[in-house]
Amino acid sequence: MTGCTVAIDGPAAAGKGTISKAVARHFGFAHLDTGLLYRAVGAKVLGGASPEAAARALNPDDLENDALRTPAVAQAASEVAAIPAVRQALLEFQRAFAGRDGGAVLDGRDIGTVICPEADAKLFVTASAVVRAKRRFAELSEKGISVTYEQVLADVEARDARDMGRADAPLRPADDAVEIDTSQMSIEDAIAAAVAVIEAKR
Ligand code: C5P
Repeated sequence: MTGCTVAIDGPAAAGKGTISKAVARHFGFAHLDTGLLYRAVGAKVLGGASPEAAARALNPDDLENDALRTPAVAQAASEVAAIPAVRQALLEFQRAFAGRDGGAVLDGRDIGTVICPEADAKLFVTASAVVRAKRRFAELSEKGISVTYEQVLADVEARDARDMGRADAPLRPADDAVEIDTSQMSIEDAIAAAVAVIEAKR
């Protein structure tokens, strides 16, 4: 299976990052977490840069940074992600990654709809806001980041509203995406379901 692009979209903390990594490992594909691109731009904007200039100047080293995982950077990412010039500046990097030999898995919000509309397999990974907030709260607490569950739920809901409500590339399932709702699923079952969908498209 050469040059296969797998597009995995969905809201924050639905499990798409874990599923994408596992799927990439299973098939031997490269993996790009496109949220990191927006987070890296968001972090630079918090540091005083202009969003468009930060997006144009982005380089892969900027993605290797643990500080990109904080709630403040996540909110900044979803704000800069609503700016069309930012999305445009990040488009080419994502398409080049998707087209690499040997297969690629990209996860984000608009991979199946905008970045890779011709992807061989498309998944939309979702879960209820409460389940996603509980998972994100556990993750952040484990990393020693101090937040309350109520704050995390409010952040998840604010980010959903912004990501689904923006005019440019809003979060939505592609017409030909297969939906996996992980609310009641173990992560192992969700990974197995994703692998099965991709196998069926080979
Ligand atoms: O997936 P993650 O939570 O890291 O994404 C951070 C933010 O980046 C999202 O809330 C969303 O606004 C934005 N994003 C996007 N398009 C993508 C990936 C992420 O707009 N393909």
